[in-house]
Amino acid sequence: MKAAVLYDYNHPLKVESLSLNAPGPGEVLVKIHSTGVCHSDWHVIKGDWPHVPLPTVLGHETSGVIEDIGSGVKTVQVGDHVILTWKPGCGRCEMCQLGHISVCDEVPSVKSLPVSSESGSVVNQLVGLGGFATHTVVPEWAAVSVDRDVPFPQKALVGCAVTTGVGSVINTAKVQQGSTVSVFGCGGVGLSCIQGAKIAGADKIIAVDIKENKLDMAIEFGATHTVNSQNVDPVEKIRELSDGLGTHYSFEAIGVVEKTLVQSVECTRKKGVTVWVGAPPVGLDVTLDSRSLVFEKSILGSYIGSARPHIDFPKMLKLYKNGMLKLDEMLSQSHPIEDINLAFDAMKRGEVARSVITFE
Ligand code: APR
Ligand code: ZN
Ligand code: ZN
Repeated sequence: MKAAVLYDYNHPLKVESLSLNAPGPGEVLVKIHSTGVCHSDWHVIKGDWPHVPLPTVLGHETSGVIEDIGSGVKTVQVGDHVILTWKPGCGRCEMCQLGHISVCDEVPSVKSLPVSSESGSVVNQLVGLGGFATHTVVPEWAAVSVDRDVPFPQKALVGCAVTTGVGSVINTAKVQQGSTVSVFGCGGVGLSCIQGAKIAGADKIIAVDIKENKLDMAIEFGATHTVNSQNVDPVEKIRELSDGLGTHYSFEAIGVVEKTLVQSVECTRKKGVTVWVGAPPVGLDVTLDSRSLVFEKSILGSYIGSARPHIDFPKMLKLYKNGMLKLDEMLSQSHPIEDINLAFDAMKRGEVARSVITFE
């Protein structure tokens, strides 16, 4: 197999040849078709999450086809189109038993990891998936079988950005029809929050970003108002746009600096609900005024949109097919694996809603 491997923080990924064993019992071999380039991969490159072991094949927003199955596999077959998930749920732990699959206590793992043909070293797979590769072996329960009549790049986006954003609105916050919503950050995740708010029937959707091209995209995906936080104080502007009160809900989909996490709390009204959707660097402290939550406001965490992948992935594809969820418009660029570092550059420059790496 060919894969893009991170050996050192803040270094380009190395595209190289790796060897992969056949799937063991309960495991499946997936021929990958598309993998989205997500800010979370970049968090790893930047060294924001030092708990991720290196070297590792990055990529976690992935679709493909089952090419081989190990013994005892029952829920998928060779030829199935699948979206991969890093939070499949073990079904046994307390969180799974309570239906909170996204925070399952078990980490999916496989018996054998790929090995670099050049250095002979064992290479990890980010969150057990390693999507920037032509192939991967994952546990059966991490491959969700889905409809064939949606293109692979669109399916890949459902594996992370779309489910994370839409799910944070629908599953985590349970946004009520007619409410007001603000969204900080208009990347793949934030644009999906905007789409989720539209699907939930929000009345006003205020998008915040520092890039005008991202704010134009926000309008295309359903925002009713935009705020460029480089020019104005977003908290004041959001209050002004919501009768001086603040919005009922706010979603922080940046996860990089303290400032926007604080602003996302300050911009909600009494009883307001803030959801921190972005996955910040380890050790990023946030200082809040101790009276921030006094008027019965709350802050919720959301991990992969509180998704139950075997329910939510097919649901997202249905919304797409019904014309309620824009996925084609989210695909800004497609690159071969050899150009993976260019795809990250485009994300850093804020040029794309999403780019995908595609394999023939
Ligand atoms: N204020 C407002 N917007 C900002 C700021 C800021 N200070 N800094 C960055 N942004 C905007 C960028 O311009 C961009 O449009 O936030 C957006 C982030 O988009 P991407 O980099 O494409 O990130 P995405 O993949 O959407 O992920 C967002 O969610 O899953 C997590 O780890 C992921 O923390 C990341 C977050
Ligand atoms: Zn992601
Ligand atoms: Zn579990």
